[in-house]
Amino acid sequence: MSLLIAIDGPAAAGKGSISRAIAKHFGMAHLDTGLLYRAVGAQVLQGAEPLQAAQQLQAEDLNALALRNDTVAQAASKVAALPEVRAELVEFQRRFARRTGGAVLDGRDIGTVILPDADVKLFITASAEVRAERRYKELLDSGAKTSLEQVLADVIARDARDRSRSAAPLVAAKDAVLIDTSDLSLSAAIAQAVAAVEKDHPHEKS
Ligand code: CDP
Repeated sequence: MSLLIAIDGPAAAGKGSISRAIAKHFGMAHLDTGLLYRAVGAQVLQGAEPLQAAQQLQAEDLNALALRNDTVAQAASKVAALPEVRAELVEFQRRFARRTGGAVLDGRDIGTVILPDADVKLFITASAEVRAERRYKELLDSGAKTSLEQVLADVIARDARDRSRSAAPLVAAKDAVLIDTSDLSLSAAIAQAVAAVEKDHPHEKS
């Protein structure tokens, strides 16, 4: 049996770590769809036209190390509000999901738009303050120079843009299981996510 798992939520809620852990636990492939928008945003910062950057995107572009910073994240959320950019990236995501063995995709619109028939949908959230603190630590660890206030402002601005856009806004699918990680350790959050998958699919091997 091959499961399709959709994991959505706002910036820095823990989607990435939880998705990677779920994929490893159940032996499935994982696609961080934020990287698609980050890669397009990074090209736009270098002068490319958004739609053209989306059309020319290659799988290798997703491995660029320079995608994980807040300047690129803001550029990503700007190009992500353009319906023509989103439309261009749909097929890549669905093709990834069709692979044998199942897949975990994480992003903002996976359970609502990309894979509305996913077997399991999780919506991972946490307070803006907790999310900003986590992202601040990650950025410091990667050597970036920033302040907690700046990271919080960036997280709030990006969430507002992601939630208010008309093309595939950030919203929990009606059938998603909500996990608030504000007061959870990463391992506790992963345990809840694994339990949510196993509840509906008790025979899935781990
Ligand atoms: O890692 P983090 O949660 O901070 O962000 P990300 O998942 O890498 O996504 C970066 C930006 O891409 C988001 O702020 C969204 O605007 C956009 N995005 C989207 O619109 N749809 C997706 N499926 C994934 C990301």
